[in-house]
Amino acid sequence: NWSEAHFRNKSLIEVAHSLVNPRGKGIYATDEDPREIQARLIAALGEAGKDISWTEAQAVERRKRWRECLYETMPADHISGVILYPETLHDFKLAPVLANRGIVPGVRANGEEYPIPASPLEPATDGLDNLLPRMTKAFDDGARFAKFRTGFMCTSLATGGLPTQLAIDTQSETLARFASIAQRAGLVPIVEPDVDFSGDADLSRSTEVHEKVISAIFARCVAHGVLIEGALIKPSFPQPGLKHPSRESTSPVDIGLATVKALSHALPVALPGILFLSGGLSDENSTAYLAAANQLVDQNQDGIYGRLPPLTFSFGRGLQGDAMSKWVSGDEDGARDAFKARAKACSLAVRGKVE
Ligand code: 13P
Repeated sequence: NWSEAHFRNKSLIEVAHSLVNPRGKGIYATDEDPREIQARLIAALGEAGKDISWTEAQAVERRKRWRECLYETMPADHISGVILYPETLHDFKLAPVLANRGIVPGVRANGEEYPIPASPLEPATDGLDNLLPRMTKAFDDGARFAKFRTGFMCTSLATGGLPTQLAIDTQSETLARFASIAQRAGLVPIVEPDVDFSGDADLSRSTEVHEKVISAIFARCVAHGVLIEGALIKPSFPQPGLKHPSRESTSPVDIGLATVKALSHALPVALPGILFLSGGLSDENSTAYLAAANQLVDQNQDGIYGRLPPLTFSFGRGLQGDAMSKWVSGDEDGARDAFKARAKACSLAVRGKVE
């Protein structure tokens, strides 16, 4: 009925705004699946020269303790929300630890990637099956937002010009269906188009691909009746691919400009905010790109870059690398301090400053 729908819309809008405001706050993404987080912990242990044989029960306990360690002292002055993997939400039941600190818990909604049969170099993403009951259960266990990651390939026109229109259509339809279902369950959807940068695209090609992909996503969101005021986007930064010779000579200002251009061309003005992923960039680059984009928006007095909503972070690797190295060596206090230092650096980057 009307008043229920009105109430749902109002809370979606409030939660979406609280994730990107006040300026300086962003999201910590801790939604790696058990295999991914195990691989990251093992890599950090290997670097610390430690033993790496665990039973399955020990592995579960370590994942839980790693999460708890940071959640218990999560700095609410810099972190607005945390994305949880379903195991952390439903089995470890850690959402209240965050909510009690004034931090909004969210859930990962996407499943695995698999090759698109008609274009096998490109991924499609699972996760729509049983989505409404899964999202309703996540809401019941304390989640107030959900994120869905979809990957897109990005290559130069000379080597095939990926992504294909088929991949753009498939993944944007998936994201729009996710967003409409998440809102139905009372969760703010974060659509995450993650454009690959391992290939040979230059900066202008990557910018063009970001524009096309993001425009397609919102066209489908409108078709599915998604409340744009109660949704958010988590994009990658346009950048030259690792195989393009300009990779090293491209500055953060070049990347900031490309980012602001692609987003201002492709986003609907009702969208409350933008939260970048770090995508395996170095700590230094992820904060430098975020700061450069924010500086440009601040200097935008003549409106040349359009009007963008807040640009902040939703980093996983870009926030936790140093903390994890300390934690695997048994230094929990050191891990918490390292996390806080990185959260502060990311928060400064949102204000356009680099430490
Ligand atoms: P990274 O910042 O490590 O890319 O993680 C963000 C995320 O949620 C990836 O899906």
